[in-house]
Amino acid sequence: MTDAPQRLTIRRPDDWHLHIRSGAMLRAVLPLTARQMGRAIIMPNLVPPAVTTTQAEAYRDEILAALPAGSRFQPLMTAYLTDGTDADDLERGFRSGVLTAVKLYPAHATTNSAHGVTSIAHVVPVLERMQAIGMPLLVHGEVTHADVDIFDREAVFLETVLTPLLARFPRLKIVLEHITTAEGVDLVRRHGPSGRLAATITVHHLMINRSSLFAGGIRPHLYCLPIAKRESHRLALRRAATSGEPWFFLGTDSAPHPIGAKESACGCAGIFTAATAIELYAQVFDEEGALDRLEAFASLNGPAFYGLPPNADSIILERGGCVVPDVLDVDGRNAVLPFRSGERLDWRLLAE
Ligand code: NCD
Ligand code: ZN
Repeated sequence: MTDAPQRLTIRRPDDWHLHIRSGAMLRAVLPLTARQMGRAIIMPNLVPPAVTTTQAEAYRDEILAALPAGSRFQPLMTAYLTDGTDADDLERGFRSGVLTAVKLYPAHATTNSAHGVTSIAHVVPVLERMQAIGMPLLVHGEVTHADVDIFDREAVFLETVLTPLLARFPRLKIVLEHITTAEGVDLVRRHGPSGRLAATITVHHLMINRSSLFAGGIRPHLYCLPIAKRESHRLALRRAATSGEPWFFLGTDSAPHPIGAKESACGCAGIFTAATAIELYAQVFDEEGALDRLEAFASLNGPAFYGLPPNADSIILERGGCVVPDVLDVDGRNAVLPFRSGERLDWRLLAE
């Protein structure tokens, strides 16, 4: 196509769902996100998790200290909800600006979620307080019962946990994180217009389906939770992300694990996309003929839901591509493998 745009200038995007860990891993991966994103919602599933305002504040300080000199990247902190969370502490954290949101992991749903909530009944007073003060709840939407097939865990969660939660807390602001199913898309469309439900969509769920996990052999680096679903769901997610509807926005769920922890008899869940996140999303939007909607998804819808202004500055993407970096060293002993490592992408983020 001769009239395809060669350059795209959009407001600087934000990542509304990001894992950056701590220590050497944090120092290795943070600069990659800080180069692209203005802000990111930082997941609290450290070992041990960041549960209180004080712990979230200490984690924020560690992140700020690890930023490259001159970076204006802003980490938006979350507290990890447990059966014992103190509503007063959350309110203090929210009102003082330390906390942006609270993360609900059903116990044992995913990496480092052993301290998660065992039943919504245990956190009703905390959710009531969050509803009263306008503090968003970010939800890992999967049930954890061993008798529910792994590919059905999101759909069952929507029906048995989220739908009753929406009925019980009609004004609680909820983000259904990293949706992977057509059912998730439908539910968010139903409740999105009231302003109380939105969803993040990862770029890997726009690019891979469950067959990708077994293409030619088992592909541990494509294993994440929620697990990728069949092709019809991937296509529903692509239509949702590129629709321009304001209740869908960017959240990479970039989740780095050392290569040895992925290539293992019992490998960890998590895909590391942060190195080229915006280039990957640009590729998807380009393939869908929706580059004109990338800015809404990446840079406008998220802040609007969270009641924040969009970033003031812009980024420039250029057609002509980039090669995804090879392994990223962490500490001389451990390394992380970026999604699509070594492959050529169609778009490139211009340096500042
Ligand atoms: C995340 C991680 O590694 O922390 N893993 C993943 O597969 N997405 C946890 C999570 O968000 O589920
Ligand atoms: Zn995550």
